[in-house]
Amino acid sequence: MNDNEQTTSIGPNSEKWISQYEDVHTHAFGTPLRVMDHGKGMHVWDVDGNEYLDFLAGIAVNSLGYAHPKWVKAVREQAGKVAHISNYFTSVPQIRLAEKLIQIAGAPEGSRVYFGNSGAEGNEAAMKMAKLYGKTLPGGDPENGGAPARILALTKGFHGRTMGALSATWKLSIREPYNPLLPAVQFVEAGDLEAMQEAFNQTGKDGVGPVAGVMLELIQGEAGVRPLDPEYVKGVRELCDQYHALMIIDEVQTGIGRTGKWFAFQREDLSGGITPDIITFAKGVAGGFPMGGMIAFGKPLAALFSPGLHGSTFAGGPLATTAGLTTLQVIEEDGLVANAETRGQQLREAVMACGSPLFVSVRGRGLLNAIQLAHPCAHAAMNWALDHGLIVNAVAPDALRLAPPLIVSSDDVDKAVSILGKIPSDLPDD
Ligand SMILES: Cc1ncc(COP(=O)(O)O)c(C=O)c1O
Repeated sequence: MNDNEQTTSIGPNSEKWISQYEDVHTHAFGTPLRVMDHGKGMHVWDVDGNEYLDFLAGIAVNSLGYAHPKWVKAVREQAGKVAHISNYFTSVPQIRLAEKLIQIAGAPEGSRVYFGNSGAEGNEAAMKMAKLYGKTLPGGDPENGGAPARILALTKGFHGRTMGALSATWKLSIREPYNPLLPAVQFVEAGDLEAMQEAFNQTGKDGVGPVAGVMLELIQGEAGVRPLDPEYVKGVRELCDQYHALMIIDEVQTGIGRTGKWFAFQREDLSGGITPDIITFAKGVAGGFPMGGMIAFGKPLAALFSPGLHGSTFAGGPLATTAGLTTLQVIEEDGLVANAETRGQQLREAVMACGSPLFVSVRGRGLLNAIQLAHPCAHAAMNWALDHGLIVNAVAPDALRLAPPLIVSSDDVDKAVSILGKIPSDLPDD
């Protein structure tokens, strides 16, 4: 096979189904690239029988790859027992998953989990908890003469598409069409500690409310996989302590082993060793089953959600939590957190060693990485890789995101880099 030959370009079955797709779906997701049929391990096949090595994992979701036998068995068995019960009841997998999440987060005594169904919902819950908390701060309760407490979010941050989470999401093109959004969310320049101090200093001036919480990702994923400086993160923690604000770390993309620790805040080289007040999670937690949520660190905070103050019909159902519990068990049994660290290191080294004039640098931790391209041709590069049997993602016009399943092997990394290294450097810009 000639390496530059297009081996898996879109086939007639995908084309036919995509045309039908476009007839019945909104255009929110644009035109799908392929119609996928089934997967196994690191590979997925489309409806024309083309095979792809997956270095995106459904955007950092499929921690165990496709159709992991233990995951399939557990979900099948649970589906045959009970799939849904509502939150008037609980189930053993729900309880065990919450216990496990608290344990792997190393969260203190009294910490509590709230389950939702997506990353945005995890962040909604965190923001609602922060709003309740803000009312307990001096001057933070509008019903008692105060001003609404603020949530500070960072420029370039991404927290989801629901109205609350979107209010804290930076990208103008996805946020502005929905204005007005939550009024008390304020953006602060990422990485600029003075700007953060300044935002805190505004409290009490011209009727500005206190800061209830600062919400941030330690690696800004959708912004192009951009790690924050750990010294900055430490500085934000100090300000939060000084002003009694919550530090809310969005671990939706970075959590569940992806960065080489269970959670990114556990990496000194990302967090400077701080402990958050709330973390949110989703994506990789249930190995492809929709699931998200948050962990409130410590009892006083967790107690803010009294009965009736938040909820969701599907949240924490037996099927989703079984998927989650099994995913965490397999990650633990198979040493996949350590694998993320080792394979990530190999991947970054191999990308830089492959000699492509298109690759300027590579950044990330564990298995959440981006290649900085010499010019903004990421979409063309992504399509070229897809046509050559490799799934990667154009996370920015000039950056390719690599976020394979945590089961990725050394051979998979070599194979992926051998394809990446052949991407023509003169592709057209996006
Ligand atoms: C850091 C972060 N937070 C929140 C979200 C939203 O998650 P979801 O799409 O599951 O609502 C995402 C999704 O990409 C994310 O990367």
